[in-house]
Amino acid sequence: MPFKTRITELFGIEHPIIQGGMHYVGFAEMAAAVSEAGGLGIITGLTQGTPEKLAAEIARCREMTKKPFGVNLTFLPAVTPPDYPGFVDVIIKGGVKIVETAGNNPQKWLPALKEAGIKVIHKCTSVRHSLKAEQIGCDAVSVDGFECGGHPGEDDVPNFILLPRAAEELKIPFVASGGMADGRSLVAAMALGAEGMNMGTRFIATKEAPVHENVKQALVAASELDTRLIMRPLRNTERVLTNAAVERLLEKERTMGDKITFADIIEEVAGVYPRIMKEGEMDAGGWSCGMVAGLIHDIPTVKELIERTIAEAEALLKQRLAGYLV
Ligand SMILES: Cc1cc2nc3c(=O)[nH]c(=O)nc-3n(C[C@H](O)[C@H](O)[C@H](O)COP(=O)(O)O)c2cc1C
Repeated sequence: MPFKTRITELFGIEHPIIQGGMHYVGFAEMAAAVSEAGGLGIITGLTQGTPEKLAAEIARCREMTKKPFGVNLTFLPAVTPPDYPGFVDVIIKGGVKIVETAGNNPQKWLPALKEAGIKVIHKCTSVRHSLKAEQIGCDAVSVDGFECGGHPGEDDVPNFILLPRAAEELKIPFVASGGMADGRSLVAAMALGAEGMNMGTRFIATKEAPVHENVKQALVAASELDTRLIMRPLRNTERVLTNAAVERLLEKERTMGDKITFADIIEEVAGVYPRIMKEGEMDAGGWSCGMVAGLIHDIPTVKELIERTIAEAEALLKQRLAGYLV
């Protein structure tokens, strides 16, 4: 039985499950597999490099699914910023109706997106940023707890606190992001006030994820103790899977202290994604991975993953949890 929430209604999807944008993972194959299975798949805009390539990727995804899918736009501080106006333009012209924004405040881009009838879900790691997103007109928020793979921000509030705090303050709907893996996660997230969940790391360990087999095997092998926080001294904290390069980077952080600059760790972080995701060079550098790796024990198809998640959530609600009521 499908769930109906404000999130499924807003995006026109069957299940309240979103695949968050992921650098060098969120290609058309990933997004289409999730959307075809009734969730919301998301293409990662910046991975494409240029607006022209993103336009082609959107067209390719449309060939693979007729169901709604979105595009992620991550706004990062950069010396030479990506061609954001160009990316927004091809998203609109490509007929995409959902955009996941992340990083800096997306306010500047909202008028153009809204005018094109695009729904915007902004990913935030704090209640104050979530409220800001609501205030500037975002349609929904993805509330990303400290457990998450990628950039958890600098507040370190895990989802058991962050989600109910978001529920206390927000009027717009939100999904829980960070640490979500299965039906238990979905029910827990909804109990805490979310109307769906966003998964990153879990979707990488699926048959359709267009990444090297080594990456999937590394996730199955990893436990919840195997992630590390890098770039904390630069206030650009990222949760990554540990490996030789990450330990080397952390050693530099320990020895250089406050004096460390991006230039000192460039070898461990710059340009490593294609080497890891495409070539399977697992020690090439730091790559985003959530603590949820400890809950990943297999490599199902996306359809199997989503269907069993929904079935497990339904059974939990109707049987185990209902069974405690006397
Ligand atoms: C390999 C990888 C790459 C990611 N790249 C991005 C990105 O480019 N932009 C973004 O907004 N989020 C990115 N994320 C974050 C995810 O969209 C999502 O918020 C996060 O993975 C949720 O936590 P989880 O991994 O515990 O499910 C990435 C996550 C992973 C694991």
